[in-house]
Amino acid sequence: MNTNDRTMSQMMKEGCADLHDKAEHAKVPSRMVSGLMTKDEYCQMLQQDAIWNKALDTAILKRRADNPYLMALVDDIQFQGPYFDQDLAHFGIADDCQPTPGVVAMCKTIEDAASNDHLTLLGLHYVREGANNGNSYVAKKLRAAWGIEGDDGLRSMDPYGNNQRALWEKFKTILDAQEFSSEEKDHMVKAGRVMFERVMAIHEDLAAATA
Ligand code: HEM
Repeated sequence: MNTNDRTMSQMMKEGCADLHDKAEHAKVPSRMVSGLMTKDEYCQMLQQDAIWNKALDTAILKRRADNPYLMALVDDIQFQGPYFDQDLAHFGIADDCQPTPGVVAMCKTIEDAASNDHLTLLGLHYVREGANNGNSYVAKKLRAAWGIEGDDGLRSMDPYGNNQRALWEKFKTILDAQEFSSEEKDHMVKAGRVMFERVMAIHEDLAAATA
């Protein structure tokens, strides 16, 4: 199978595997998985992540109606802003914090893509949506560490609950049914890699604030 025969989801997975490995083992995800992250740290992360998630929702909403790929792939349940609002409300915190440099960079990438680059928007969204696979596992670890049950406060980490695996498979099936050109596939992988870098930079900001 040459590169052109690889499905989009295979190309995204393989093209970002090195960065996934790096992102998964960085300090902030490791603190969550090992149960060391405090609720205070988690709330700081929620505030920062709410900013860029809402920016990405807004950008996709602005472009979705006139783009067939975004129309085919992005359901309203994938907009993460409402899940962050529920989590922020649960912890009684506002979403008016100062964005860290990593969040500013993420918002700039989203804003640039919103103006003229729907494929980058889709690549960014793919990584956000795919990250729910790991986040749902991380949410289990946090529930255990904090001795809580249920979804309150953790909806943005685990928005789909028991439907996570099925919804991810559906997303990939629809993605792989799109007739992307090989240039478009390469463009998406590049956007996915940018997204991993942006998320890691935000995690580094949070880790530095904790140190
Ligand atoms: C503790 C941290 C993490 C864990 C344990 C984890 C774990 C996982 C797992 C188990 C999958 C499913 C793989 C499959 O279906 O074959 C996955 C997929 C994915 N994760 Fe993560 N992940 C973590 C962090 C992250 C982060 C920080 C990001 C994004 C910045 C991310 C982005 C993705 C993406 C895009 C996918 C779908 C593509 C793929 O299957 O490789 N993950 N992750």
